[in-house]
Amino acid sequence: MSLITWTADQYGTNVGFADEEHKILFSKLNNLYELATGGAARTAIGEALDDLIAYVGGHFAHEEKEMQAKNYEGYPAHKAEHEALIGVCAGLQTKFHAGEAEVTEEVGQLVKGWLDNHIPNVDKFYAGALNS
Ligand code: FEO
Repeated sequence: MSLITWTADQYGTNVGFADEEHKILFSKLNNLYELATGGAARTAIGEALDDLIAYVGGHFAHEEKEMQAKNYEGYPAHKAEHEALIGVCAGLQTKFHAGEAEVTEEVGQLVKGWLDNHIPNVDKFYAGALNS
């Protein structure tokens, strides 16, 4: 079963590129979650983890570039949230590849919880600036 499902009501930002990237991000997260909780080979889980983290980094960079281009006042706080998640992901990625951590149900729920807060309560507020 999927971990997270994109709906406009819950996750829509009114910014086209962000919504499209969030949908892809959700798809990559669901893929990782299904592999990790479905007993897939560790190599496949590692590839999905790396793929998700690379995509998240690219998505954050894209948002940050757009916010900077519009001199968005919320940029510093927004970037700080991105950096906090990148730090968590980088730590997990290093430990996973060292054989010291696994992608667990809790990891999936942690990332879902972060997205459940960040997209409606942080991303959504850049719509006015980015659409101006
Ligand atoms: Fe869509 Fe600020 O992450």
